[in-house]
Amino acid sequence: MNRRNFLKKSVAATTLVIGPGMFLSACGRNLRSELMGIDQIPDDHAIETLGPHGYKILYYASFAPSGHNSQPWFVRINTSLDWVVGSDADRFLKTVDGSNRETLLSLGAFVENLVQAAGAFGYAAKTTVIAKDRFDSDVVRVRLSKSTALNIPLHRMVARRTVKSHLQSKELKSSDVKAFSKSVGGHLFYFPRGTEHANFMNKEAVENYRIQSDNKKAMEELAAWIRFKDRDAKRFRDGLTPEAMEITGLAGWYVRHFMDNKDVLSKSFNDKGFQKIQEQVTQGAGWLVITSDGNTVKDLIETGRRFQRMALTARQKMIAIHPMTQALEETHGQKNIRDNHGPGVIPQFMLRVGYLNKYPDPVSLRRPVEWFVRV
Ligand SMILES: Cc1cc2nc3c(=O)[nH]c(=O)nc-3n(C[C@H](O)[C@H](O)[C@H](O)COP(=O)(O)O)c2cc1C
Repeated sequence: MNRRNFLKKSVAATTLVIGPGMFLSACGRNLRSELMGIDQIPDDHAIETLGPHGYKILYYASFAPSGHNSQPWFVRINTSLDWVVGSDADRFLKTVDGSNRETLLSLGAFVENLVQAAGAFGYAAKTTVIAKDRFDSDVVRVRLSKSTALNIPLHRMVARRTVKSHLQSKELKSSDVKAFSKSVGGHLFYFPRGTEHANFMNKEAVENYRIQSDNKKAMEELAAWIRFKDRDAKRFRDGLTPEAMEITGLAGWYVRHFMDNKDVLSKSFNDKGFQKIQEQVTQGAGWLVITSDGNTVKDLIETGRRFQRMALTARQKMIAIHPMTQALEETHGQKNIRDNHGPGVIPQFMLRVGYLNKYPDPVSLRRPVEWFVRV
């Protein structure tokens, strides 16, 4: 038995003897506040060329969600009021998102936060999609002009998170569905739990998760974004920590200390993930699907912006949103979903949704503004 396996076995044995309580008490922590100090509003003068509020605007923008928390954005500062939001090819998910669809959806969410934060600091932000191709590096031009400060709740951007557990199994109220539909300009379907279509979505989510977890290349790509160790989380400030994967308590402590990235390819890790997904689809209010008018870069940026508007509304209403994307990434799911929708319906987000008793603290990390700004 090598040292690592010996340690793994000893920990398992010790846990059985002294019980999990002592370990659990050592596990309650919030990595985001530990590493990022989110309570301290950043200093606006850190990057001079950004102007008096630029740093803060980009700080809030950076709390946008992204696939695998890859944060695929950069921002080039032409002048303090003229910026370009671009996509960073080093952060593309080439295997699961070969067409760069999700990169652009994530960039759209970033742009939405940016525009809202600019409004709160007294700037009107005019955005123009300049990319013609999904792989162009310059994607959205942003021009800021001084304006009246709007009453936009910035804290929602920081407090929003992906929530996968403890969703209540009751349907959404129609007033909430209406509010969501309004925030996405009507590009929304709601399939309440227990309906035929919700069951179809459950099945697709589970099946395509399994297909993807059997794909070695997809799992290698995922492994590259996993930050089991605190030192990696601190170093990269992106990707998926155990907390972000909702592996908490004793299990979280265990993976932080005894697992490394190649374990993501192991059968037991995959089986646990699969078991979790099967449980998750039984909980919640059902599914939301956000659609787009087309598949151009502009359509995808707009859809990402809509998604983020809805996610912020959901945060205010204490409603969990959990994107489950595998069915839109795998050919098997894409075909089944296409066959189950009318022509012209283009689904871009499949989201589990549900009420929560308590909205959990956000835990996923973000890179500091300095790391993604190019001056
Ligand atoms: C386009 C897109 C696709 C995503 N797909 C999934 C998914 O399939 N499964 C999942 O658990 N989370 C998914 N997420 C959520 C991200 O993992 C999450 O946003 C990221 O880790 C940052 O965490 P946060 O949302 O809590 O800030 C997706 C997010 C986006 C924007």
